[in-house]
Amino acid sequence: MIIAQIPRAQASLDRINEILDIDEEKTVGGDLILDEIEKLEFKDVSFKYPNSQSYSLKNVSFVLNKGEKLGIIGSTGSGKTTLASLLVRFYDVDKGQILINGRDIKDYSLKSLRDSISYIEQKPRLIEGTVKSNVIMSSDTSFSDNALIDALNISQADFVFEKELGIGSEVVQRGRNFSGGQKQRISIARAVYKDASLFLIDDSFSALDFKTERKLREELLNKAADKLMILISQRARAIFEFDKILLLKNGELLGIGSHEYLKENEEEYREILESQDFSGGDIYGAQ
Ligand SMILES: Nc1ncnc2c1ncn2[C@@H]1O[C@H](COP(=O)(O)OP(=O)(O)O)[C@@H](O)[C@H]1O
Ligand SMILES: [Mg+2]
Repeated sequence: MIIAQIPRAQASLDRINEILDIDEEKTVGGDLILDEIEKLEFKDVSFKYPNSQSYSLKNVSFVLNKGEKLGIIGSTGSGKTTLASLLVRFYDVDKGQILINGRDIKDYSLKSLRDSISYIEQKPRLIEGTVKSNVIMSSDTSFSDNALIDALNISQADFVFEKELGIGSEVVQRGRNFSGGQKQRISIARAVYKDASLFLIDDSFSALDFKTERKLREELLNKAADKLMILISQRARAIFEFDKILLLKNGELLGIGSHEYLKENEEEYREILESQDFSGGDIYGAQ
């Protein structure tokens, strides 16, 4: 039994050491305050994890302006999550630059940078407390119940209201008393409640059924109409209507453009469409 636990303990230890090894200076920001994001630019960005031999992102460039929606598609391991974590500065780029409103993101205070991004991680993280404390995530007492209820509705997390204690329902450690899809929706509500100027959503719909996903996507697009949005997904149907789609493979940007453009020009994109039996319309129809 003990032998079986050794590899797990080793993996945990590696991760702990990795965190302890992070050069603190690297993750400190400048003192510029970021107010609203008008323009985001990746300029020739390359990145290699500290413990890795090869680059997880190679020379990635794109521009996104206020109001624009960017979809990112690519198979597992293509660098989608890496791109998101560079943007919120969990790591810093090795080459190139990420610019917001024309300034390097390192020039902004880390707090104001992260305050400007509603980031929904691939793996939802709920913490012990209540649904409410998980969504508002702040000791701030000036919260609004209406905004909270709105956020839960937009996120298709209205199942919460049917519970006896409603928004006061208990969340146990890691949210184990909720299903995968419920956890995803509560963590999406957290980002919606935060209502930052950039929505960064990493493959967060995987546990949802088609209909719920579609409704949620529509509500999110509506909510973020005048903001920037980056939606990462392995499914073409989630992003085919976006202004721009960025196609990644093994850390390389194969192409960027509309669905029609990529369909026309990128073999890899056509293969994704074929493998998903998706031709471009909403095959699930209007409800
Ligand atoms: N913490 C990490 N340390 C080392 N390599 C990593 C780490 N996270 C991801 N990678 C590697 O970086 C590449 C891109 O991973 P990721 O960005 O998670 O891809 P995706 O989100 O598209 O599935 C993969 O080869 C993956 O193995
Ligand atoms: Mg990922």
